[in-house]
Amino acid sequence: MKLSQRIGGLRPTAVNSILAEVRALQAQGRELVSLMRGEPDLKTPAHIVAAAEAALRAGRTSYPDNRGEMPLREAVALKLERDNGVRYDPGSEILVTTGATFGIYSALSAVLDPGDEVIVPDPVYDAYLSPIRLAGGVPKLAASRIEGGRFQITREALEAVRTPATRAILLNTPWNPTGAVLSPNELAVVAGFVRDHDLWLISDEIYEAITYDGHRHVSPVAAIPDLRGRTILVNSLSKTYAMTGWRVGYCAAPAEVIRAMFLVLQQSSRGPATFIQDASAVALRESQACVAEMTAEYTRRRSRVIEALAGIRGCRVIAPEGGFFAMLDCREMGQASDAIRKGLLEEHGVVVVNGSAYGPSGEGTLRVSFASGGAALERGLDRLRAGLSA
Ligand SMILES: Cc1ncc(COP(=O)(O)O)c(C=O)c1O
Repeated sequence: MKLSQRIGGLRPTAVNSILAEVRALQAQGRELVSLMRGEPDLKTPAHIVAAAEAALRAGRTSYPDNRGEMPLREAVALKLERDNGVRYDPGSEILVTTGATFGIYSALSAVLDPGDEVIVPDPVYDAYLSPIRLAGGVPKLAASRIEGGRFQITREALEAVRTPATRAILLNTPWNPTGAVLSPNELAVVAGFVRDHDLWLISDEIYEAITYDGHRHVSPVAAIPDLRGRTILVNSLSKTYAMTGWRVGYCAAPAEVIRAMFLVLQQSSRGPATFIQDASAVALRESQACVAEMTAEYTRRRSRVIEALAGIRGCRVIAPEGGFFAMLDCREMGQASDAIRKGLLEEHGVVVVNGSAYGPSGEGTLRVSFASGGAALERGLDRLRAGLSA
């Protein structure tokens, strides 16, 4: 039987492709250590779990309001004002989604027509590409360069891939996989570009809480208020509260866009479960001490990664400014990053992602995750160091 041609444009994510190799080796009895996934090993804080339990026991099991339960939308509005300094109306400008993944999908579906192009800075979180295609769009990778020890995007690189069909830019800061946190100056460059070419800005801010060394996430709309009319802010509770499996996120945008995204949501996911939404409101409203504790833990792990991987010939750690991935710049080793990754996997039993999986600008680099810590991180770092020094 014939399947839709649309499916031909979709690809498994880099992590899933590598997982298939990992499972094949494990089936042969190999013991592997993974520094691959963006899955925190920290537990969802107890007060959030307790709120979900209480909501379940209170019978909060019916269909939710498909825009998001009002108490959660109000909590999102409160959070956006408290943490990001931006104001959105919970009645008309906020949509609760099944993770940032569905927020991105509904945003793209709301603004793209067939053939519209979406610019994504390269290296790109590869799970952006298939949803762009699914929404009828065409991804265009804007090259970045490692300069001053970090990945940088420039106006020239954005202009180089812009065409009359460009409709939107999909930005992710803190930036997975590079670890860069866009500075107000860099945001101003993006703002000038989207303004001059009348584009939508889809701003994925999922790693906002996890920043280091005085770098701080600034929401593009807070930095440049006149972006508000053309920006769709996407966020989720997955990383901030170690709630990846709860599948809850939210978007904020002008009412007319939220109405369009709501239509997409109503005809597909219909949002996260009601009791999950109750607990999510508690997460956003109550003390944020748990977030500070988790960020302190990631800060310790980041220091270990930088320390453990320092001084390997031909490799340099790009110290992440945010998120829980470090990029290793191995360009001086003169080998394709996929070949280095395969060697590390097959000969040294450690799993990382080759930078080329995220686009041509990532070639020569490896992405190392410290979302998981403890003994597994230490063992993985030992193997990585041994493998890269061999
Ligand atoms: C940049 C980025 N956006 C979105 C997601 C997915 O988020 P969610 O779990 O909220 O769907 C991830 C997960 O790794 C991510 O790295």
